Amino acid sequence: MRKVPIFLTLITAAMAFNAGSAEPEMGMDLMQNIEDANKSLSSNIALANKQAAGSDAKDLERMFQEVETFFEHKGDAKNAVDLARQSRELSADIVQLVATGKFDAATDKATTLSRTCRTCHTFYKKE
Ligand code: HEC
Repeated sequence: MRKVPIFLTLITAAMAFNAGSAEPEMGMDLMQNIEDANKSLSSNIALANKQAAGSDAKDLERMFQEVETFFEHKGDAKNAVDLARQSRELSADIVQLVATGKFDAATDKATTLSRTCRTCHTFYKKE
């Protein structure tokens, strides 16, 4: 996982926005990594793989923290900040649930998480 470069991309985007230049863009890698981790999470929950599912959910928790920070800096996007926070909290819940082998409950949370992706995209993703 490329933690540092993703973070730097977000900071750069936020600074570009503050300087009044181009619209900030979410690091494309960030959403792509979220997509990959989310897919991996569903299959690892289905396989009842505690360790792998836990690691995917932790990655998602960290990445949604970055999304939350991005929208906080962007401003005028309270809905997106809330949705990013909800996604981060759902990911954290999944970490706990898979650690204790509660895969059915983890599946429910993962379904809610995927719905949250779509809600945010409906409002904030162009094209
Ligand atoms: C808080 C809002 C928000 C949430 C939650 C969110 N996304 Fe996104 N996503 C975006 C935005 C905004 C874009 C468009 C980025 C851009 O065009 O700059 C995007 C783009 C994407 C893309 C396209 C990236 C590309 O390379 O074109 C994928 C894939 C994606 N999201 C997957 C997900 C998945 C999977 C989830 C949930 C697990 C998720 N997103 C949750 C806001 C969100």
